[in-house]
Amino acid sequence: MADHFKLDLTQRPRRLRRTASLRSMVEETVLRPQDFIAPLFVVDGKGAPEPIRSMPGVMRFNIIDLVKECRALAKLGVPAVALFPKLDAKFKDEVGRAALHEDALILRAVRAVKKAVPQMTVITDIALDPYTTHGHDGVLSADGLDVANDHTVAILCQMAVLHARAGVDLVAPSDMMDGRIGEIRRALDAAGFTGTGILAYAVKFNSAYYGPFRDAVGSAKAAGTKLLNKATYQLNPANRREALVELRLDEAEGADIVMVKPAGLYLDIIREVRDATHKPVAAYQISGEYAQIHAAAQLGWLDLARCRHESLLAIKRAGADLILTYFAKDMALALR
Ligand code: PBG
Repeated sequence: MADHFKLDLTQRPRRLRRTASLRSMVEETVLRPQDFIAPLFVVDGKGAPEPIRSMPGVMRFNIIDLVKECRALAKLGVPAVALFPKLDAKFKDEVGRAALHEDALILRAVRAVKKAVPQMTVITDIALDPYTTHGHDGVLSADGLDVANDHTVAILCQMAVLHARAGVDLVAPSDMMDGRIGEIRRALDAAGFTGTGILAYAVKFNSAYYGPFRDAVGSAKAAGTKLLNKATYQLNPANRREALVELRLDEAEGADIVMVKPAGLYLDIIREVRDATHKPVAAYQISGEYAQIHAAAQLGWLDLARCRHESLLAIKRAGADLILTYFAKDMALALR
């Protein structure tokens, strides 16, 4: 009976979906291990890897285990890691002094990784949140009601130079202070680090999905829970044009790579940024995006491997050249 019903169609897009071979021939977006940057957390001491409750499968590593992880990632074809320190609370203060310590955990971690796995591109976050008792990305203003922009930028410049001296390939300011890309560029150049690049968190939204990361670095206590949240520096999730303003500024100030963060909820922004710049575009699939997929998979509601792949495919299809994701290693393994 169905055979009597023939449409007179010239175009039948399903023709190219008929076989696996045809489907692969017309596939537009392909994920590769080189697309990924693995964010890794590092802690002091010699302890066993510490799991993070809200990020299944993600660990805080001591420096020795961190180096091992970097070696494994390099072997799998993941070209870069973004390192985040988790400090003991006793090393934190109001102004994040530990960030400028010559022997800071992050600097030791960078040196160890660059020494053992020199081909690995090492990226470090430039922001004060792992170092401040209040968990903000900068120092507070005199009245304690806001983050002081220019004072913070001055500290971030010193921090960037220390990181460059330790051997990072790219510094990644994630703080959203005004003017910090230009100042950091000048500071790096003045100190002789003209070859150290800047991966700018150009478009970073004030997202509720950073929660698990703040557990991981122990900055959750105050940030986002007091009257003073990160809304005075991170972008309002409602704003699209403002994202392009931030992009223009960071580009003009000397960013080598521009980043959009979060990724999956901001695919429209990734696309606009891709269309508006000729610089490489990075996107950060953040902790909450990762946690969501794991949580649904744990409940048996979603298929972990397929959702992981699809979530990253969507980010690349939207226009991201590089993706920071906690799935980096799993993806590189799955793509073998
Ligand atoms: C802070 C920073 C954050 C992340 C990276 N650097 C969180 C924040 O702004 O509080 C988030 C990463 C993630 O959620 O995976 N400088």
